[in-house]
Amino acid sequence: MAVLVLASALSVTTLALDNGLMRTPPMGWLAWERFRCDTDCEHDPKNCISENLFIDMADRLSEDGWKELGYVYVNIDDCWSSMERDEQGRLQPDPKRFPGGIHKLTRYMHDRGLKLGIYGDMGKHTCGGYPGTPMEKIEIDAFTFADWEVDMLKYDGCWSNATEQEQGYPLMSKALNATGRPIGYSCSWPAYQGGLPPKVNYTQLGEICNLWRNYGDIQDSWDSVLNVIDWFSKNQDVLIPAAGPGQWNDPDMLIIGNFGLSMDQSRAQMALWAIMAAPLFMSTDLRTISSGARSILQNKIVISINQDPMGVQGRRILKEKNGIEVFWRPLSSNASALVIFSRRNDMPYRYQTSLSKLNYTTGSYKIYDVFTDKTMMLKDSTDFVVSVNPTGVVMWYVSAPAKRNFLQFYKGGKLQGSFYADDDENAIPIFL
Ligand code: GLA
Repeated sequence: MAVLVLASALSVTTLALDNGLMRTPPMGWLAWERFRCDTDCEHDPKNCISENLFIDMADRLSEDGWKELGYVYVNIDDCWSSMERDEQGRLQPDPKRFPGGIHKLTRYMHDRGLKLGIYGDMGKHTCGGYPGTPMEKIEIDAFTFADWEVDMLKYDGCWSNATEQEQGYPLMSKALNATGRPIGYSCSWPAYQGGLPPKVNYTQLGEICNLWRNYGDIQDSWDSVLNVIDWFSKNQDVLIPAAGPGQWNDPDMLIIGNFGLSMDQSRAQMALWAIMAAPLFMSTDLRTISSGARSILQNKIVISINQDPMGVQGRRILKEKNGIEVFWRPLSSNASALVIFSRRNDMPYRYQTSLSKLNYTTGSYKIYDVFTDKTMMLKDSTDFVVSVNPTGVVMWYVSAPAKRNFLQFYKGGKLQGSFYADDDENAIPIFL
């Protein structure tokens, strides 16, 4: 019997993606949104998809304080490969743009404590028209990526149909496991199937992928960010249970630092990606990023909310007629995060509420305003007003409620009276 139980436990674990990776949402940099399929190195040497671009970004990540905050993945997207496989049938990088091969890049990353991600596609071609990794190539390509010491694979789904995806995504998961190298696995599968059950099986995805794209591509505009936020909020009851340590919903890249978002909108994207426990892949030029955008992306408290070890994805708890929406995420140590988001386009809106109206239980809470660095104590029952900029957010880290201390008053050794105090500072007995 014991042998049987052990044997069945083993067969279950081999089905699951047991690479132990991404217990918190992965963080790093991904080429696509900002650099697309620019292969014109002759005219645009700084921005074309080439080893120099990834080396430049690795230098910035390791020298400008990003790596220490957790931004460690440097991920190649589409358009990296040569149009032909080599004589042994293996994918190979474009020799002009990647003269040192992918191995040179993985070494460069690993020497600096960074990781390298690569991109493949389940169909005959990638979305950009480069060679894909259809069924019969899965094993050889997984092996090649492991041989190059790659740390993550984004496996896209262009040019493949539902039946192929159903076989291919689990097969790639197995093939990556079989290489013996821990390789983070990002699946675009659900995005190609509308992102919702019954077509999408989130239980299975959690077993075979570390993260997955649920929805369409993000673009460099506020409209696009809003569209993503709305889809994820509308479908949150399906998406939230799918997420947890090692398995994340991916609303796509952070576009902060580019051309389409104001500072308020950038804070909104950062805050809501933290609430959603989303992977934080920046797609921006780290060589020229403004100090404003950088300080949003490097905000330690937002990052720690995103990286909370409990790994519970947050939710929209209120959608008011006045254009205010409130988001909440439970965090470890009984703490939580609150985001008050304004969809308005007129002027800063003074939103009045109280913690008890936002479902907080009785108690006194320490509030830390993530973007202004201000702290205050707040009782659940006290009404407060926050001013929220148009298309902006106010974000709070809310500590666990202070313990209610039972205080007793003594006079001449005799008990005179007692009362409850709401915060720790008053925890000493008082002698009159
Ligand atoms: C798809 C993906 C994008 C990007 C492009 C590359 O559209 O969703 O994230 O990888 O392909 O061609």
